[in-house]
Amino acid sequence: MAQLAASQVAVTVPVGSDLSTRRSVFKTHSISFHDKSWAPSLSLDLKTKNARLRNRHIICQSVQQASVPKVTVSPLNLEDAKEPPLNTYKPKEPYTATIVSVERIVGPKAPGETCHIVIDHGGNVPYWEGQSYGIIPPGENPKKPGSPHNVRLYSIASTRYGDTFDGKTASFCVRRAVYYDPETGKEDPSKNGVCSNFLCNSKPGDKVRVTGPSGKIMLLPEDNPNATHIMIATGTGIAPYRGYLRRMFMESVPTFKFNGLAWLFLGVANSDSLLYDDEFKKYLKDYPDNFRYDLALSREQKSKSGGKMYVQDKIEEYSDEIFKLLDTGAHIYFCGLKGMMPGIQETLKRVADQRGENWEEKLSQLKKNKQWHVEVY
Ligand SMILES: Cc1cc2nc3c(=O)[nH]c(=O)nc-3n(C[C@H](O)[C@H](O)[C@H](O)COP(=O)(O)OP(=O)(O)OC[C@H]3O[C@@H](n4cnc5c(N)ncnc54)[C@H](O)[C@@H]3O)c2cc1C
Ligand SMILES: NC(=O)c1ccc[n+]([C@@H]2O[C@H](COP(=O)([O-])OP(=O)(O)OC[C@H]3O[C@@H](n4cnc5c(N)ncnc54)[C@H](OP(=O)(O)O)[C@@H]3O)[C@@H](O)[C@H]2O)c1
Repeated sequence: MAQLAASQVAVTVPVGSDLSTRRSVFKTHSISFHDKSWAPSLSLDLKTKNARLRNRHIICQSVQQASVPKVTVSPLNLEDAKEPPLNTYKPKEPYTATIVSVERIVGPKAPGETCHIVIDHGGNVPYWEGQSYGIIPPGENPKKPGSPHNVRLYSIASTRYGDTFDGKTASFCVRRAVYYDPETGKEDPSKNGVCSNFLCNSKPGDKVRVTGPSGKIMLLPEDNPNATHIMIATGTGIAPYRGYLRRMFMESVPTFKFNGLAWLFLGVANSDSLLYDDEFKKYLKDYPDNFRYDLALSREQKSKSGGKMYVQDKIEEYSDEIFKLLDTGAHIYFCGLKGMMPGIQETLKRVADQRGENWEEKLSQLKKNKQWHVEVY
């Protein structure tokens, strides 16, 4: 077998195995990714093929990880920077990027539509995980005739390497904002959200005006690779965490070897509304000691009190563990609906009271220690 670089995957194929299997095994590991379908297909390939291949005595092993191959990325200069890039492109002079793909990622029973959108920035608008881009939708601002629309912010849902692993793309998780007339209950397309509909309707090759990157609140602190990160998301608030988790578990990055605990709480309406579930289930299977994944399906599950199951109910269920983890330095992140924060604060205060702790003091300490990260919209 040919010598492989330290972080590549060694694959031994015995003589006599059929060529199609050999080709597909090698195809899975030849790191030339041109589309974002890689993640699910690798997990599928490994799951189904491992079962099939066991009987054929084919050994798959990674030199770097005991059993889980990661994608080796060529480190970008960004890895050496001390500070994240900020506002490289401003609203007056945005960067014109190109849509690579737009994919609906929720099932037919999801209320509303959420799309995974990949854009090509050619490596010209680098960013760190947890940052956002601004998008200026085409057309005129109705409130300021003659001027462009205001910028809308979208959290980036990929790592700095993008879904293409080459540092040239960024991905978004966008919910199409639809307006329903409160009196008739009918959709009024004239009042649908401008930018989310522009993005979800766009086609590969379309141009999109980008500003940013912006934001420092949701950056992933990487100083301690053994840290605990508790991530709370409602809906599209999942975006920054998808980036974190790909950096932790999918990419092999020389400067960040994560070996701590990432605990994700995701709140969506129902099973059809789950976002990036295949990726998260794969991490659960491959890194059971480093990843936890809990769901709050508001319209499918009931809380203890018989109401909708929300992320704050899940936080309450695991409050003892969460409080202990916070006491030992865990980071906690909240991203998604603004409306979740009052309920979450109430829950945390109630738990603190039951534990004989003062929530206000604890919260101010968490903020002071930079353990508390909130980005809601
Ligand atoms: C830091 C940050 C990160 C974000 N990340 C994401 C993300 O990852 N994914 C995501 O989907 N969103 C995200 N958002 C929200 C996003 O920026 C937009 O606000 C959202 O997409 C709606 O923008 P729009 O242009 O589609 O709607 P707008 O055109 O701005 O309209 C806003 C709302 O008003 C309604 N509306 C329009 N006209 C009327 C009217 N006449 N009367 C009553 N209502 C009306 C629309 O239906 C819509 O619901 C983020 C926001 C912030 C601040
Ligand atoms: N127009 C506005 O003022 C406004 C404000 C915020 C967001 N938005 C837009 O709404 C869309 C949000 O879509 P999304 O997919 O990110 O989220 P979403 O699907 O609306 O919500 C995700 C989950 O959060 C739950 N949830 C709702 N209220 C909550 C609360 N108070 N506490 C905890 N959980 C709560 C929802 O439950 P249920 O739905 O079952 O209750 C659902 O399970 C985006 O288009 C965004 O821009 C609009």
